[in-house]
Amino acid sequence: VSVIEPPLDDFMVIGPTLFLRYATPADAPRLFELGSDEAVTRVFSWGPYTQVEQAQAYIESLRAKREAQTLLDFLVVSREDGPIGVTGLTDLAPRDRRATIGTWIGRQWWGSGANRESKALMTALAFRTLGLERLTALANVTNGRSQRALERIGFRQEGVLRRYHRHGEDVHDMAISGLLKSTWEKGELAAVPVEVAGAPPAGWVVQG
Ligand SMILES: CC(C)(COP(=O)(O)OP(=O)(O)OC[C@H]1O[C@@H](n2cnc3c(N)ncnc32)[C@H](O)[C@@H]1OP(=O)(O)O)[C@@H](O)C(=O)NCCC(=O)NCCS
Repeated sequence: VSVIEPPLDDFMVIGPTLFLRYATPADAPRLFELGSDEAVTRVFSWGPYTQVEQAQAYIESLRAKREAQTLLDFLVVSREDGPIGVTGLTDLAPRDRRATIGTWIGRQWWGSGANRESKALMTALAFRTLGLERLTALANVTNGRSQRALERIGFRQEGVLRRYHRHGEDVHDMAISGLLKSTWEKGELAAVPVEVAGAPPAGWVVQG
């Protein structure tokens, strides 16, 4: 099995079998392939991708959004299989030390533990490196799999936000869950070995 090593020159979050890095234009074909699956994008406002240019446009938009502190997305890269999905933060509230986390993983890796490890990497980044104290997750009320996946890694459901997300003409109720730093610190996820390399993204560190 070929082993993919993390590149050394960029910001990265590195775990036992996966690492997180910024997507580059060279990732567009693979991201297009992963995001062309209706099972993956069913709950989102975008997709499934029908043209590689859509993945390209997404990748090209990321730097500006990162710099504007509106979106901090990473590619989830498996050392064995290469890129397998995306995870990121939105709705950064520096004063309140919180942000919202979202993830999607290619169908082939559902149930593989990749989601759990990607959350171990993101929570270490959020709570240790960025200084956040709460992560919020929003899942469509029809997305039982996502709600269960969040629960089993320590998120607690807090309620339902009615008519909260609009996708075209469809309006969706969203289940809101939260994970507090104090809960995470005592749980299994915090025990996963995680290394952070490079300079954290400017504007995303809320307390240092
Ligand atoms: C959400 C996602 C990242 C979760 O990763 P995953 O690898 O599928 O999650 P896991 O297998 O670790 O956990 C899923 C859990 O839900 C359970 N489950 C599966 N289908 C379910 C359903 N229809 N209803 C309730 N629970 C369900 C599984 O049994 C598992 O629980 P268990 O480990 O206690 O058995 C992944 O499924 C995905 O990318 N989905 C598409 C995009 C998406 O929905 N993203 C989240 C938006 S909020």
